[in-house]
Amino acid sequence: MRGLWEKIASGGELGREEVAALLSLTDKDDLERLYAAAYRVKLAEAGPFVYLRGLVEISNVCSKDCYYCGIRRGNRGVSRFELDKEEILSCVRWAYERGYGSTVLQAGERSDAAYVDFIDDIVREIQKDCGGEFGVTLSLGEQTEETYRRWLEAGANRYLLRIETSNPDLYAKLHPPDHGFEARLACLDSLRRLGYQVGTGVMSGLPFQTVEDLAGDIMFFKERDIDMIGMGPYIVHDDTPLAAAKPDFEPESQLEIGLKMIAATRLALRDVNIASTTALQALSADGRELGLLAGGNVVMPNLTATEHRSDYQLYRGKPNVADDAESSELALRRSVEAIGETVAFGHRGDSPHFIKRMSDGRD
Ligand code: 5AD
Repeated sequence: MRGLWEKIASGGELGREEVAALLSLTDKDDLERLYAAAYRVKLAEAGPFVYLRGLVEISNVCSKDCYYCGIRRGNRGVSRFELDKEEILSCVRWAYERGYGSTVLQAGERSDAAYVDFIDDIVREIQKDCGGEFGVTLSLGEQTEETYRRWLEAGANRYLLRIETSNPDLYAKLHPPDHGFEARLACLDSLRRLGYQVGTGVMSGLPFQTVEDLAGDIMFFKERDIDMIGMGPYIVHDDTPLAAAKPDFEPESQLEIGLKMIAATRLALRDVNIASTTALQALSADGRELGLLAGGNVVMPNLTATEHRSDYQLYRGKPNVADDAESSELALRRSVEAIGETVAFGHRGDSPHFIKRMSDGRD
C-alpha cells in the first residue's frame, strides 16, 4: 500500500489492480486517507465548488423491466404519472431563476414518436425560456441515434445513460434477456459521436458483484473517455425480483462501497464531474455531504412536485419524499457551506474533462 499512497500523492496514473486495491480497503484510517486524497484531487481539478442540477422526474412510465428498479414495467403497485409541458417548464424556470446551471430531465424509458416530439418541444421551450445557453441534461434511456440527434439540435447538451455494470455477465443477471448490454454500449457511442457531454455510471454493492467488477467499471469510464459520472449504491426495492437475491442488505456497507467508488473514480479519472447521488442520502442523513468529501462535485436537487415524488421510488427509502424544492435547497446550501464548499450559482459547471477535450480538438 505504501507505494500506492505515494503514487496517489504524486498524481500517477492508476491501473485496474491499484483501483481494486483501493476499493478493497476496510480499515477506518485507510478509508479516511482515501477520501481525503480524492477530495484534494477534486479541489485541484474542480475547485471548492458544488454545481447544482435541478432534477425533474418527468414521468415514471417505463417500457423496461430491470430486475432492481422500483418503477419497472412489471411493478403493478406503482401509480403512473406524466407531467405536462407547463408543469415541467415551471420547474425548470424555477431552477433557472435561482441560478442553477442546469437541469436534468429524467424519466422511465419511452421511445414512441409522440414522446420524441414532446421532448423535442420541451427542450426548445427550455432554451427559449432560459437564455439559450442553459445546461440541459437528458436522462431518458436508450433511444435511436436519430432521436438523440433531434434532441441535441433542439438544445440538449448533456446525456446521462448509466451502463449499470460494465460486466456483460452481471448485466445479464440484472436485466431480462431482451435488455442488451451491447445496445446500451451502442447508445453511449452514438451520444459521444453526436457531441453530447456524456455521462454514465453504475450501481455498486449489487448482488453477485465483485471488487474486480467495480474496478472494471472505473476502467470502463476511463477507456471510454467519459465526461460525467453518476453512480450510487444499490438499494433494495421490495417489489422487485432482485429483492430476493440479497435479503441481508446492510446500509453501512452499501454507503461505504458507494463512497469508495466516488473516491477511486476521482483518483483514476481526476477531471470529470462526479455526482454525489440521492442513493447515498437514502442510506445516511449526511450521505450526500460524505459523497462531496470523497470527491463528488455535483448535486442534483429534486425539483419534482411533491405530489409525484412518492411514485418515483426507484428503491426503498428514497429521501425527501415530503420536502418541497425550496426547503430542500435551503438545507442543501447550509450543508454545503458547513463542509467549507460553495454552491456555484450562475454557472453551468461543464465537466472540466469535456472542456479540455473540446479545446484539444480531440473530437
Ligand atoms: N438502487 C439504486 N439505484 C437504482 N436505480 C434503479 N434502481 C435502483 C436501486 N434499486 C438507478 C439505476 C438507474 C437510475 C435512474 O437509478 O442506476 O440508471
